[in-house]
Order: sequence, then C-alpha cells, then structure tokens
Amino acid sequence: MMSVITTQRQGDILVITSNNPPVNALGAAVRQGLAAAIEELNGDDSLKAAVIRCEGRTFFAGADITEFGKPMQEPGLPTLVDQIEASEKPVVAAVHGTALGGGCEVALACHYRIAVPSAKFGLPEVKLGILPGAGGTQRLPRVAGVKFALELAAKGDPVPAKVAQAAGLVDRLADEDSLTPDAVAYASEIAAARPLPRASEKPVQVEDGVFDAFRKENARRMRGFDAPAEIIDVIEQTVSLPYAEGVQRERAGFMKLIMGTQSAAMRHIFFAERKAAKIDDVPEDTKLRDIKRVGVIGAGTMGGGISMNFLSAGIPVTIVEMQQEALDRGTGTIRKNYEASAAKGRLKPEQVEGAMGLLKPTLSLDDLADCDLIIEAVYENMDVKKDIFGKLDKIAKQGAILASNTSYLNIDEIAASTSRPQDVLGLHFFSPANVMKLLEIVRGAKTAHDVLATAMDVAKRIKKVAVVAGVCHGFIGNRMLMPRQVEANKLLMEGATPQQIDKVHVEFGMPMGPFQMADLAGVDIGWHRDPTRIESIRDALAAENRWGQKTKAGFYDYDDKRTPSPSPRVAEIIEEFRKKSGAQQHEVTDQEIVERTLYPMVNEGALILEEGMAQRASDIDVVWIYGYGWPVYRGGPMFWADTVGLKTIVEGLEKHGFTVAKLLKDKAASGGRFNG
Ligand code: 3HC
Repeated sequence: MMSVITTQRQGDILVITSNNPPVNALGAAVRQGLAAAIEELNGDDSLKAAVIRCEGRTFFAGADITEFGKPMQEPGLPTLVDQIEASEKPVVAAVHGTALGGGCEVALACHYRIAVPSAKFGLPEVKLGILPGAGGTQRLPRVAGVKFALELAAKGDPVPAKVAQAAGLVDRLADEDSLTPDAVAYASEIAAARPLPRASEKPVQVEDGVFDAFRKENARRMRGFDAPAEIIDVIEQTVSLPYAEGVQRERAGFMKLIMGTQSAAMRHIFFAERKAAKIDDVPEDTKLRDIKRVGVIGAGTMGGGISMNFLSAGIPVTIVEMQQEALDRGTGTIRKNYEASAAKGRLKPEQVEGAMGLLKPTLSLDDLADCDLIIEAVYENMDVKKDIFGKLDKIAKQGAILASNTSYLNIDEIAASTSRPQDVLGLHFFSPANVMKLLEIVRGAKTAHDVLATAMDVAKRIKKVAVVAGVCHGFIGNRMLMPRQVEANKLLMEGATPQQIDKVHVEFGMPMGPFQMADLAGVDIGWHRDPTRIESIRDALAAENRWGQKTKAGFYDYDDKRTPSPSPRVAEIIEEFRKKSGAQQHEVTDQEIVERTLYPMVNEGALILEEGMAQRASDIDVVWIYGYGWPVYRGGPMFWADTVGLKTIVEGLEKHGFTVAKLLKDKAASGGRFNG
C-alpha cells in the first residue's frame, strides 16, 4: 500500500508530501509519516530544510474527526506539532486549499508559511464544540496577535491568505500555479537563517480590555455555546504564561469540551449534514440533468427569494407573474435586497448588476419553454397548483424538472395533473428563501432517480443543505411544528402565557418561541379572512388587525423598533378563551412546557421515521438545525432526545397523555438511540 506521507529530495531540500484524500485529515498514518519525515530531515546532514505540502484539493483540513472518542494512536497532534517546531532545520508549510484546525496548527508549528492567494486559514474547532487542541490557542496569538487569534478561534470562520498575511500568519504569497517550486525556492533562501523563528518562543502583545470587548461584541452569537467562552478564557489566562504552561491549560480545556454533550452534538451535525446529501437508493454516479436556466412562477416573497439563490449562483432565471404591477414589485424587491447587500459591502455594484442581468421578468408562462427547472411558488391552493402544472405540462420542454415550493400539499396529486410525474418533485424553501440554508426535497411516488440526484446537485450549487422528505402533510419540518403549536395553545388555556412559553424555547436555545414566530411570520397566515368567525385565539387576533410585527401588534405589542412587550389586550383574549374552554387551570412549570412542546416533536419525528418519510434520524436533525434554528449545540431534536434518554421522553409523553410512536417505545424499551 502506498504511504500517505512520502518524501522526495530536491537538492538539499526535503519535500514532504501528504496524500490522504479527500481533505488530508491528520489521521494516525499521516501523523506517523510526518514525524518520520522530520526525523529524516534532522538525521541527514545533506539536507538543509524541508517543505510540507499536500496533494489533492487541500492542505491538511484538520485532525481526523472520525478518530475522536477513540484511543489516540501516537504521536498525538500536540506532540507532532512540537516536534516540527523543535526541528533544528527550517520547515516551510506550503499551503493551498484550506489549512483548517490541526492543519493550521501544523502550519503554525512550521518556521515559515507560504501560501497561494486562494488558500484559506482557519481554526473551525469551535464549530465542532471544541478548541484548537494542538497549540493553536498558544501559537496564533504569538504570531498574529490576540485580537486576530480571538476572531479565528472563537468564531471559527476562515480568512483568505491575504488577510492571514497582513496579520503575520503567512510570510509569503506564492503564484497560484507554482506553489511547490516557490516553496522549495523559499526553503533554500532561508535554509541557513538562524535563529529559527519558533512561534512558541515569541512574546505576545496584549491590549488592555481586548478580552472583555470581544466578549461583549459577540455575546449574542455565542449565547448558549460552551466552546467560544472556553476559548476566550484559555487565551486570556495563558497569554502571559510561558508556552509550556499555556498548552497545559489548552489541553485541559480541550479534554473538557470534547467529553461534553455540545461537542458530540456538533460533530453529529457535521457528519449528518454530509450524510443528508446521500439518497439511499440513488447511486452516486447517477447521470444528472443539465440545469442551465431556471423558471420561477410567482414573484412574491418566496418566488423572489428563490430566484435570488439562482441569480447569485450565476444561473439565469425567468420569473413569471400574472400582473405587471406584481411583477415590477417582485423584481424591485430583488434589486432592493441586492442593493442592501452592496450597501453593507457584501457585494460589489457590478455583482448586483450581474445578478439582475440574469433575471428575465415576464407575464407569460409560455416563456418558460426553455427552462430546465421550473419552480412554482404561488399560494397554497391545490386547485391553483394543479392548474399551473397542467399548463406547464404543455409548455415545458421534454426532460425539464417541474417543482412545487408547497409547504404542505401532496406532491403526488400535483404530479398527477401532468403526463410526466417522473419529472415532478417538491422543492420546499424556507423563508427568507435567499437566506435560510435548508431545502426539503420532496420525493413523489414516481419521481425519477435522476431528478432527485439533479435536485441534490442544484441544492449544492445554490449553497443549500438539502434533505429528502417523503410525501406527507408538512413533510419533515412543518409536520413536527404542528404538535408543538397544538400543545403551546393548550398550555395557554391551562394558565401559561405566551411570554413564558417563548422564554422556555429561547432559553433552550431557539432563536424564538412559537408565539414570537407567529408574530414574525404573520398571525394572518392561513386566516379565513372572516372577522366575524372567531374560533381560535389567532382568529381573534387577526380580526383585530393584530397580524404580528407587520401591524405592530400580534401576540405581543411592538414599538417602532419592533421591541416586543406583553399585551394586556392579548391577556384578555386568552382569558376569554380559557373561560370558554373549561380547561383546568394550574401553575405551568417550565419543565412542563419542555415536556409538552418538545417531547411531542420527538414523537412526531419517530412517526416520520416509522413511515419512511425521512431516510434517517440525522436528516430530521439537519432539518431542524438549518430550517428552524434548533440550537446546533443540542444536535437537533432526535439527537437531543438521545441525550435526554428515550425512556425519559416516553415516560414524559405518557404522563401527559400522548400516544407514543411504536418506534420510540421500542427503542426506549431496548435502550436504543435514534443516532448511532
Ligand atoms: N476529518 C475527517 N473527515 C473529514 C474531515 C476531517 N477533519 N473534514 C472533512 N472530512 C470528510 C467529510 O466528512 C466528507 O466525507 P464524505 O465524502 O464521506 O461525506 C469528505 O471529507 C469531504 O468533505 P466535504 O464534503 O465537507 O468537502 P468540501 O470540499 O465541501 O469541504 C472542507 C472541505 C472545507 C475541508 C470541509 O470538509 C470542512 O470544513 N472540514 C472540517 C474542517 C474542520 O473542522 N477541521 C478541524 C478539525 S478538529 C481539529 O483539527 C482539532 C485539532 O485542533 C486538535
């Protein structure tokens, strides 16, 4: 078997190459090979310096995450990086692709770093719920300053090589096409330079107040997460300590975090997201259909947002509306959104014009004849959708994919209004469609394999995380939302307030609770629009024009800055309904809210699995993380249920009178889990 690490001499320079596809993760074989190569460098007098480089698409993308939780094979990464830095002869890191986590730490341990301009550097460990555990918290502040180290390590977003160079993390930029020769030339140039620049020996400069300012600035995004706080603490506590003491503190923090539930949850989601892209019975080499132009029917909020995904990815869009005014309003909103991004510096003005130049507005469905994928995004009405798909059947070219953005309706029924049900599927985007990462791909009974594979590929092109769902009311996400909503309303009847229920969800880590969500989405959504027909609290609110944030009143009152406050009027309405309902009043505890709103979601998830509407429990977790803001550190509802204990969940559900799904009951009885 070929070794993952090979060495080759170029004059007196040792070129050490890693070839461990797909991302050169620093698994045991790579670490052992690198350690041996550094020994070779120092054991041979004819060698003066070394270059560490990687084959394939990237420099080391980090420690091998699949090794976490297993006994560590020697040498561990911390030992290896210290060995590299301690080399008596200079070592140059030659970086392309992404030097992430342990990869960035290897680069930091090298004495010099050269990178191509397209390379990126990052410490994304925080996104896995851990901290850089191979000297990253110690070497980076010494090389690039405390502020830069905090940004990289506590937020986890990578930076381009040029930014890394400005901070001192990169010493030299190479030509895009000649990294290895440039690195070898660099190694020859510095071969005799002494003393060697060792990151661990550099002094650190600390500005007053930098840690508190960073904590304050980022308090919101870090709320609920253990790792960012630990990373800031580690850097703060060790910044003036000798390196050897600092790494001990780093190691203690690393061990604490990696043993914790948050890290397990976040690693689960890392792999779950990648697994979701795989459709069990669709081979990976399925030939894809060519998608060059996309049609979108409906220029409302959803249609506009959906179009932006494609325009931003450079894919031309034909957008159709029935009235000129609605079409103009829709295209105007798209432009306004792009211009707002440009004003924030996220886009260049020419990119705005580039995207808008790909948009073809029209009033005629006939103009969709040249589209390869057509997405219907009109309002939720089966008859309207059937009518549109019947027409599309006659207009669309052979082989075009016909998709509905429905959130609830039966895709098979929609498909049956065409003569080509194999080309029909659901593409359920989440609002705002240009922002939310989730895409539910709804698979009809007759949807062809290549249609599914193409939809998955399109999702990747427009940077969505896609999950396959079967045909059922509300698919995965909205179906699980329903029992939560029903229980939240019952809890109101029994004595809870919207504020208390929302507070429990926010404390759990959700961006908002069910009533805040209703106010944001619009209390009038799905309303029958008859102010005299008052059958629910929502009807009562809608009839009084309390449509949510947009009318500055819903379940809450809102001021001009959309700050919510409890509404005395809503309290009265709830009181009236309580009296009518005859529900037994009691003091509702926060724990009861968790048991009655979140446990039923797990129960519904189990039913979804039982019925085969999701391929795997981890797909359900992905839906909730990327579509509804379930806190990633709790790993999605099914992973969370595993951490609570399925027996506890079943007991809780039974205590409150729910019918428990068979799958959930069986798993609880056998001590099983949803994930792993
Ligand atoms: N360990 C093990 N497997 C990894 C991995 C890693 N660090 N990084 C990626 N992979 C696997 C993926 O699971 C995927 O496997 P699959 O094909 O079987 O699904 C495959 O490599 C390709 O990954 P992507 O689909 O994500 O490929 P992309 O090209 O889209 O992205 C990437 C490449 C940017 C490198 C992305 O994979 C990534 O962000 N990886 C994780 C990077 C990371 O978190 N590094 C830190 C690790 S922790 C660490 O280093 C601790 C240290 O401080 C001690």
